[in-house]
Amino acid sequence: MATKNLDDAKGNKADEFYTQWADIEKEVQAYLEFNPDVFKGKTILCPCDDPYESKFFKYFALSFNELGLKKLIATCYIGSPIASTQLTLFDDEPEDNKTTRVPHKIEITEGEDYNKDGVFNLYDVELILANKKNALTRLEGNGDFRSDEIKKLRDEADIIITNPPFSLFREFIAWIMEAKKQFLIIGNMNAITYKEVFPLIKDNKMWLGPSITSGDRKFNVPSGYPLKAAGCGYDEDGKPFIMVKGVRWFTNLEHGRRHQPIPFMTMADNLRYSKHKEIRGKKSYDKYDNYDAIEVPFTDAIPSDYDGAIGVPISFLDKYCPEQFEIIKFRKGNDEKDLSVNGKCPYFRILIRRKGAK
Ligand SMILES: C[S@@+](CC[C@H](N)C(=O)[O-])C[C@H]1O[C@@H](n2cnc3c(N)ncnc32)[C@H](O)[C@@H]1O
Repeated sequence: MATKNLDDAKGNKADEFYTQWADIEKEVQAYLEFNPDVFKGKTILCPCDDPYESKFFKYFALSFNELGLKKLIATCYIGSPIASTQLTLFDDEPEDNKTTRVPHKIEITEGEDYNKDGVFNLYDVELILANKKNALTRLEGNGDFRSDEIKKLRDEADIIITNPPFSLFREFIAWIMEAKKQFLIIGNMNAITYKEVFPLIKDNKMWLGPSITSGDRKFNVPSGYPLKAAGCGYDEDGKPFIMVKGVRWFTNLEHGRRHQPIPFMTMADNLRYSKHKEIRGKKSYDKYDNYDAIEVPFTDAIPSDYDGAIGVPISFLDKYCPEQFEIIKFRKGNDEKDLSVNGKCPYFRILIRRKGAK
């Protein structure tokens, strides 16, 4: 049940949508499958993450040894009306204990079984934070990722991983790019259409992560958040959540899916057998009025034997393999107006061409 779009967070100053452990775990696993050492010896920074709420922090803290991390840093932004000042990392903390967030930084440099009970768990992390010098410190400023204090941590880090505030998504991407860091962030797929983001995708400096390609994702929200739309509700433990559509991972970490070419039918077979009634039975594919390319409204209807330019929806990027296709440009025809077919403009199109086409 699609309910909210992350765009809705634009007007929401807090931008407080908390990512689920399962979504983080599934995505991270895909990078490990491609390269088991991808995080080895690396410093990860989670710069929009109150460790007491963020599953990003908890996931990477608990996976510290398994991933072979060098350091995990999490910093938190002041001003949320919901975060905890009670230092507990456990999910059963009563909502009443939650007051205004204090900006702080957490640095973990080992996954130590602090209480020597034979397992490394969140209780050990809590003991490390309580007892180890410099593990938990107050930030000098407000924790804004744009501040010099957090920029310094960014420069120290190898990989930036978080769910950034959606209303600052563009700035967040620019902030990563100016430091040329590796990153894994979650956001709304409409960000593909931003003029600050599309060129990065076109130039293969950023791509979509493999684990989310459709459907809604669940995010926890602060108590008191209006749960108006269908699909919102309360977890078993009473935490409010919303379902969000159009969510995608954005990254420059390599993964296997993006190097798997998609199998396609020929143009003739598509026109004859396509499952899409918009294609099947037609004499030919539509052409744009203002660009020499065919309009292909479904990724699976791309003809395998067409050498010219092809206009596809942005969901093509869920399957994009840079060895199979090159991206030519976004949305505009030669006249710099939106691509149109018989005067009608289809929703955001990406122009692509088969690699190696004559
Ligand atoms: C979408 S929430 C995600 C929180 C957490 N990363 C997670 O996924 O569970 C974005 C977080 O960024 C914080 N934030 C908002 N503006 C910020 C800023 N300028 N700098 C750093 N963090 C900010 C918000 O308080 C919020 O906790």
